[in-house]
Amino acid sequence: MAFVKNDVEIKNEIKELLFDKHVEYIANHGNDKNDFEYCMTEFLRMSGIYWGVTALDIMNQLDKIDRLSIIEFIKQCQCPITGGISPCIGHDPHILYTLSAVQILCIYDCLNEVNVKAIAKYVNSLQQPDGSFFGDKWGEVDTRFSFCAVAILALIDKMESINIEKAVNFVMSCSNSDGGFGSKPNAESHAGLIYCCVGFLSITDQLHRLDCEKLAWWLCERQLPSGGLNGRPEKLPDVCYSWWVLASLTIMGRLHWINSEKLEQFILSCQDNETGGFSDRTGNLPDIFHTLFGLGALSLLGGNNNLKKINPTFCMPEYVIERCNIKPKSIV
Ligand code: FPP
Ligand code: ZN
Repeated sequence: MAFVKNDVEIKNEIKELLFDKHVEYIANHGNDKNDFEYCMTEFLRMSGIYWGVTALDIMNQLDKIDRLSIIEFIKQCQCPITGGISPCIGHDPHILYTLSAVQILCIYDCLNEVNVKAIAKYVNSLQQPDGSFFGDKWGEVDTRFSFCAVAILALIDKMESINIEKAVNFVMSCSNSDGGFGSKPNAESHAGLIYCCVGFLSITDQLHRLDCEKLAWWLCERQLPSGGLNGRPEKLPDVCYSWWVLASLTIMGRLHWINSEKLEQFILSCQDNETGGFSDRTGNLPDIFHTLFGLGALSLLGGNNNLKKINPTFCMPEYVIERCNIKPKSIV
């Protein structure tokens, strides 16, 4: 039988946060419009901007990118028929990119730049009779879309647009006997979807529906000897799971159930000391997605004074959530 070692060895121990390099990496991201990676990621452009804007804001460097051109881009991505927002001009709207756009607009404090009523109508149009949500007109159902729906509506203060009771019942029907959640009923537990469901219950004030002891055990068992966290048993560690797992544990008041020091070492080892940015795991190429989640997890761990506090439910700076007057619940 094969011996599979599902962990990494940290060879390049980096002890410091390479702050200036990350600022440069994010600020220059997308400057070269012919860059291969930039061209190949058009389908998720709106989320890419949200990852960059949020990362820069928690580093207190939001002025490094052009606010006005980003707002103009978002306005052009709102569909005049459905009200939903697309990842890029000329693409179809989707609930994922609608959330990213709303998150950016809240950070820039300018929700009034888009048709907010039309966004609420779009979210409402995606709810199904069983309480679940389609991601877009093509009809895929996933608990990540339930999270997007309530996160959007909380941020635009239009929670009354959907049937919350049915939405909660659907999310609870996706819970498993191990305490976790999957993408739909009977789907295996997955840390990314656990984040979506715990975040959903935090926004809808239903955290008492969780079996916190069981779920927190499952989550802290994601930590491997390298200090990194994986998303499911037997998988390799990945910096983005530092976010999905740690944010869920933070909402449940159990961040101390994992070894923070070892996790911090793992996250720091995923920095690229030449280009800046974080990769999914030590030695791989960096990208903007893992850069946000690396910085976000370090902010949750709280050891770095150069990072602003991040909200574990919304993955946005805490001061923005306070300014929007939203109070996502957590267990203290
Ligand atoms: C892993 O996906 C991650 C998830 C399933 C969670 C995604 C969460 C959202 C889209 C909600 C919005 C997020 C924020 C931060 C506001 P994957 O497909 O990469 O899984 P894999 O690692 O198993 O391939
Ligand atoms: Zn990842």
